[in-house]
Amino acid sequence: MRKLVPSLLSADLWCLKDQLDVLKQYQVDTLHVDVMDGNFVPNISMGVPLVESLRKHSDFSLDVHLMIANPERFIETFREAGADLLTVHIEATYHIHRLIQQIRNVGCKAGVSLNPGTPLELIKPILHMVDLVLVMSVNPGFGGQDFLPETLSKVKMLHQWKQEREDYKYIVEVDGGINRSNVEQVLNAGAEWIVSGSGVFKGDLKTNLDQLNEILLK
Ligand code: DX5
Ligand code: ZN
Repeated sequence: MRKLVPSLLSADLWCLKDQLDVLKQYQVDTLHVDVMDGNFVPNISMGVPLVESLRKHSDFSLDVHLMIANPERFIETFREAGADLLTVHIEATYHIHRLIQQIRNVGCKAGVSLNPGTPLELIKPILHMVDLVLVMSVNPGFGGQDFLPETLSKVKMLHQWKQEREDYKYIVEVDGGINRSNVEQVLNAGAEWIVSGSGVFKGDLKTNLDQLNEILLK
């Protein structure tokens, strides 16, 4: 099912509660939480305390995007904090089968992500094991970057493989540079979950949500 998954990276943390109340009014049920370690990506963002607080005070489903090296060190921690879905990067680990299994064993849904420069073939061996594939349409690390249209071929391929294989049950999620000007293209390629940070939070929140929903709910 198609849906908008706002990324909190571009939210104004000073008034986060007010913004989340607005998202609720717009039937948003899942939040994308971007965790960066200053190593796998050249930036540091939010982490465990925010996930804990969101879990304690809200009922949003928490889609946690781990942009951290060797994520196996933090799977239990994020589960205990309240993550529902943990997405790890194929480039960030040596042992992807074990890591996906670890995520499942703690009771989370498991996602795998790949950078724009990483070929889809690299995640093929685990596609039958994951609940979600997150296609990065920018190089991860920052909000507000330009969408890379060449990543759409991966979205199309993942969508097609899903039609062809009964054992593929993953959701196709796309993240980076998506706003009202290109969301239709991304949906047409086969994306189901649309992550948007600056497209949601920069400028007027309600206007952005109205405009995105108009396209998403068509
Ligand atoms: C980028 C993050 C994205 C980011 C998207 O590294 O993974 O989730 O918040 O932000 P926009 O929509 O502004 O590109
Ligand atoms: Zn993200």
